[in-house]
Amino acid sequence: MSWIRESNLNWFQLLALKIIKTGHVPKHVAFIMDGNRRFANKQNMAKTDGHLKGFDKMAETMTWCRDLGITEVTVYAFSIENFNRSQEEVDMLMELARCKFLRLLEEKNKLVEEGICIRVIGNLSLLPEDMRKLFAEAMISTENNNKAILNLAFAYTSRDEITHAIKDIAGGIKHADILPEDINENLISQCLYTYKSLNPDLLIRTSGEVRFSDFLLWQISNTCVYFTNVLWPEFNLWNLLSAVFYYQRCYSDLQKVTKVQNLEPIVHNDRISMYINKLHHERQLMIESMYLSTVQS
Ligand code: FPP
Ligand code: MG
Repeated sequence: MSWIRESNLNWFQLLALKIIKTGHVPKHVAFIMDGNRRFANKQNMAKTDGHLKGFDKMAETMTWCRDLGITEVTVYAFSIENFNRSQEEVDMLMELARCKFLRLLEEKNKLVEEGICIRVIGNLSLLPEDMRKLFAEAMISTENNNKAILNLAFAYTSRDEITHAIKDIAGGIKHADILPEDINENLISQCLYTYKSLNPDLLIRTSGEVRFSDFLLWQISNTCVYFTNVLWPEFNLWNLLSAVFYYQRCYSDLQKVTKVQNLEPIVHNDRISMYINKLHHERQLMIESMYLSTVQS
């Protein structure tokens, strides 16, 4: 199935959407898409089909998010912990990602038309070279699209992300780009894989598990969190609207917290700004070099 689906809501669903949109809609929603294998078991399907259904649900959910006016979505597609699953399942998930990214590249004109930007966040060095190239090509081909953003966390855990940020900062100090006293929360945020994004407003986890599983731990300190028992492939528009409705009830409290935090914005000195620009530039060059090796090969 394609990454892009036509919106096909009935009049009743459109009415419900319209009502929810009279309230505050989160701009950025993150998903822990859990329960694919339990769904497969329940339906007497192979695990592979459970994950395939999981992908289809992700594409469908992106359409609902766009219908609602949610402009950024971050999904947990493959955790570094998932490498500990059976080799057969890991290979299958890698193959699924390969196929879906090849499909994405085939339909990149459609992504441009729809203004969808794809970013893969995670430790790409843990992945085979062909996948790194596919991901880089998808990112470069869609980087100027600005209507909606999909961040796909792949080979990702939060602790790995924070470890890398610390290493980058230590490198910056070692090379005298920055000083130890330059370290602050904002600098750390700028060194995470998610530096291009604002923090999620709402995090949704399916399947009844009530934990974060090392996902966006730094970024969700003020995020409204919604847990639901539904298995990811069964997630539907009503589940999404319930989560957004829950967010709307949390919203006024969240705003108070954010206002208190925003009282003293962190202002960077020129040295820190230069270091951040240099780091982001290096990361961009790394993605471009992966992409160029695709074009040349
Ligand atoms: C968690 O369910 C789901 C995953 C580990 C994989 C999620 C991936 C997708 C939905 C597709 C991602 C998109 C691309 C492009 C690859 P689980 O396996 O933990 O199921 P369980 O909790 O029932 O055991
Ligand atoms: Mg699970």
